Amino acid sequence: MSKIQEAREFLSDIEAFPPKLPHDPTLLPKLFASLSDKSFMSMQGLAALVERSQSLAARVLTVANSAMYGLQGGVTSLTRAVQVLGLVELRALVILFSAKGSIPDSKLPRAFPSRDLWEHQVRTAMLARQMTLIIEGTGKKGEVALEADSIHTAALLHDLGKVILAARRPAVWAEISEIARERGCGFAEAEEVYWGMDHGSAAAAMLNAWGLPDMLTQMISWHHHPELTPNYKLETHILAAANHLADNNRSLLTDAPGEAAPRLPERVRQLLPDYAVALESQADSLKHIVLDAKAEALATLMTGLAKKTERYLLCRTRNIPPSS
Ligand SMILES: [Fe+2]
Ligand SMILES: [Fe+2]
Repeated sequence: MSKIQEAREFLSDIEAFPPKLPHDPTLLPKLFASLSDKSFMSMQGLAALVERSQSLAARVLTVANSAMYGLQGGVTSLTRAVQVLGLVELRALVILFSAKGSIPDSKLPRAFPSRDLWEHQVRTAMLARQMTLIIEGTGKKGEVALEADSIHTAALLHDLGKVILAARRPAVWAEISEIARERGCGFAEAEEVYWGMDHGSAAAAMLNAWGLPDMLTQMISWHHHPELTPNYKLETHILAAANHLADNNRSLLTDAPGEAAPRLPERVRQLLPDYAVALESQADSLKHIVLDAKAEALATLMTGLAKKTERYLLCRTRNIPPSS
């Protein structure tokens, strides 16, 4: 079988058998419709939707009570948890837990850098949101109404294709990682060398099968080639720029006396040439995100929660009480 055929087969396999969500599959499209920017659904209504999945409800409560929100132990009802988190954070958490729960770490090769990947996605999402706000502030965006929340959600999930590749084709994932190491290039570039496509397509196939909005799947599909996207051009360019900045931010951090002023990496300037000056003038706000520990905390929390759930399920199947 040629490599192109192999790639096609991988994608149709995802479309036909998408990873099983850790809750009722109708919940995600419903929750996303109700969490759209134009939603007027009440907090109680949202809490009732989340409550339909016990594991999700437990996780939302855990996060609302975590140190990140400074209300440890004080949030006991789901409605209160939804209020504390707010719509945008809730949407982000639901999608993170759905994605994480659908492909647990136990299904991934030992060498897969799961925690780093989640931290990278959370940080990319935080950067993408801030960049969107700065770009909107320039008043230059014309008729395009940027959907900050959708860009944020797409950024949270943009590299999910790497996870499904590692879970479903571990040997291919290992070979591509080796190509990247040998050539000293990025993973996406090594994927192109191996079979002529990158992980954006795999993630899009998976999220499409879950019934997520077209805007999200398109942005994610083209995050390594934003110039090729047929729609949502500016949004996809912002995602691509945030993705690059999340991993290449050293120039932003150089502000010790005598050093050059913070400067965006060249790739980010190329991706968003009309907004480079505005983004650079607010480099401080981007720098804060790079240094913010929230992405790290959330990745730790998610990895911890996944481990706890796995232990709980293992204990339940063996009929022994979980110790912690
Ligand atoms: Fe990527
Ligand atoms: Fe990425």
